[in-house]
Amino acid sequence: MEHHVEELLNEMTLDEKLGQLTQSRGGRSKDLNSLVDDEQKALVRQGRIGSYLHVAGAEFLTELQRLAVKESRLGIPLLFGLDVVHGYRTIFPVPLAAACSWDPDAVEQAARLAAEEATAAGVNWTFAPMVDVARDPRWGRIVEGAGEDPYLGAVMAAAQVRGYQGERLSDPNSLLACPKHFVAYGAGVGGRDYDSADVSPRTLAEVYLPPFRAAVQAGAGSLMTAFNDIAGIPMTAHQSLLQEVLRDRWGFSGLVVSDWNAIDELRAHGVAGDRAAAGALALRAGVDMDMVSGIYEQDLGRLVETGQLPTAVVDAAVRRVLRVKHWLGLFEDPFRYGNTAREQRVILSQSHVAFAREIAGKSIVLLKNDGDLLPLDKNIENLALIGPLADDRKAPLGSWKALGQPDDVVSLRAGILAAVGPNTEVQAAAGCDLDGDSTAGFAEAERLAKAADAVVLVLGEDDDMSGEARSRSRLELPGVQRQLAERVLALKKPTVVVLMGGRPLAIPWLAEQAPVLVETWLLGVQMGSAVADVLFGDVNPSGKLVTTFPVGVGQVPIFYGHRNTGRPASTDPSKDSARYIDAPIQPVFPFGHGLSYTTFNYADLEVTPPEVDAGDIVQVRCTVTNRGKRAGDEVVQLYARDPVASVAQPVQKLVGFHRLRLQPGEAATLTFNLPVEMLGYYDAEMSYRVEPGEFRVAIGASSADVRLDGSFRLREEVRDQGEPGSVFSRVDVTKNSAETPPLDSDAKLQP
Ligand code: NOJ
Repeated sequence: MEHHVEELLNEMTLDEKLGQLTQSRGGRSKDLNSLVDDEQKALVRQGRIGSYLHVAGAEFLTELQRLAVKESRLGIPLLFGLDVVHGYRTIFPVPLAAACSWDPDAVEQAARLAAEEATAAGVNWTFAPMVDVARDPRWGRIVEGAGEDPYLGAVMAAAQVRGYQGERLSDPNSLLACPKHFVAYGAGVGGRDYDSADVSPRTLAEVYLPPFRAAVQAGAGSLMTAFNDIAGIPMTAHQSLLQEVLRDRWGFSGLVVSDWNAIDELRAHGVAGDRAAAGALALRAGVDMDMVSGIYEQDLGRLVETGQLPTAVVDAAVRRVLRVKHWLGLFEDPFRYGNTAREQRVILSQSHVAFAREIAGKSIVLLKNDGDLLPLDKNIENLALIGPLADDRKAPLGSWKALGQPDDVVSLRAGILAAVGPNTEVQAAAGCDLDGDSTAGFAEAERLAKAADAVVLVLGEDDDMSGEARSRSRLELPGVQRQLAERVLALKKPTVVVLMGGRPLAIPWLAEQAPVLVETWLLGVQMGSAVADVLFGDVNPSGKLVTTFPVGVGQVPIFYGHRNTGRPASTDPSKDSARYIDAPIQPVFPFGHGLSYTTFNYADLEVTPPEVDAGDIVQVRCTVTNRGKRAGDEVVQLYARDPVASVAQPVQKLVGFHRLRLQPGEAATLTFNLPVEMLGYYDAEMSYRVEPGEFRVAIGASSADVRLDGSFRLREEVRDQGEPGSVFSRVDVTKNSAETPPLDSDAKLQP
């Protein structure tokens, strides 16, 4: 490979080199392929383009690749990129929802199936996974990531990279992954998209970088820079993070692509006076490929020719682009990706759709279920289905739909109709528009609700209210949905509120007044079927929140892993503490929360050994028993805390989790193997270390529902091992027989 790359480099003209660094728009995200005109084709023939984005389709891309390979001087194949973020045509749950499954295998599988479809259609590069930690639900792009936690984010990032890239990047169904947006894009001030982030080096290292670290460790072959600046340095020009951290420390050898037009936007940031200066800044910083600004192609040649930009800087970037093309096997066989027969066979295939239903079921979070109102009886006589989203077939596709079609989607209404018995009557009314102010439909909604035995009330946001450039300043239900809900709930009917959308909403009143609340997010093509599975009990809900649900926008940012402060929040208003005078300090629903139709008992915590040294693994063991009458999955969560350290530590830190399936009466012993180096932090000199002393561990069903806690001691300091995002805990599970839950025998082990 290296030999071939050097050979090519020697042959390439400057224009051809800059062409390799250029990604051109082949279409729009909503109108793929639409921009590849004769002018573009001429550029391909001249070797002036290295990659296209917003393109798809085996036939179309095979022809475009043919132009590059057969009709350009050097025949260098093209990279074809697309935002395959949660599915190609078979759309899976939005990433925020999928993360609520706490099931990395399922998340990996969704990425794998998306890769199968996209590669069959000729796409060889996805701009995914989006691994930005997000702690501000105003930010519309919270929907695209795995939520607020760096550890969970790192696990999900690695899972997706594995899924997209498959076993070998050179396999014809492997899709080049592109973790994005490097870095701290989720930390924009005010929750506004694209806005400045001003995070400390420590927060960067401990919160925002770990998912990227994990994605790189999992072998991601490319990476995208973020739009934002960090304390004044735009990420598109951030030499120290791109060089020292990404390449030197982490050993990343893949290609770095800018975000859309971001190189040109360095002018608007105010760090470059003209296009050429912007291009030089980005290339020198380590951005290898220019997404659509055209600056590398049009403006850098002059700088190289006049000696203002060394050829070596250009060459280094070209090498990285060519290597990635090699890794994908494109020089070997440029046509390995698009395949019309495979395209027809795999896209929206039965098994993909069946999996979409399965993962959607796992992503649903039962927030509240007073009086065990759920699951509903399939033979209920009269069911009222109310709400503006109840029969929506577009909303479930979420932001980034790739080739997803509303026609492929099972709406909630269709899902419910397919689930209920032959004698059940389902009457539906929108009640109001999603975001309008008319209350004209309320009367009809009330009439149906009154006549019904149970009501399913579907509220929330559609696909267009979260995602890029979809920040909101308020987190309430849009439009008059709250009033609609108040009217319906006032009837005191058995009412199940189904929340849809791409962000945690502020719904304290609803959490109080609705007897049942189910967060279903935007679940993709099988949304309606999956929601019906849960509502009628064919699937026992098991999702857990990956973001905190705030009381209101004033609490934002609010996340479980905060520090204690010198004056920890107190419920006593007469004390001066870290709280508000006009709002509670607790969120509506905490990180990790999610209920089931069965109950799980946690017992017999054991932490061994009680004292450990560097390099050791602490074993945290407990027994979880399904005490109810239904089989169910529980996500068992392990949190740790370093109560006294030279840098104040978060009150809780997720350090392990496991999704466990248990039959009624069945018990399992879980052993979390926790490497001690996971428990460190960056000290005042920004070196990573774990201080000796006591550590607390807690096992719970959520961050606020701790069931067991214990501690151990570290005898000696651990230094420079275990950078966050690079080390993970492992869980061993031993199932005990269903007939004889071994609580007693286990208890004997305790002193
Ligand atoms: C801009 C978005 O920020 C990024 O996530 C996406 O991959 C590119 N556009 C390409 O569509």
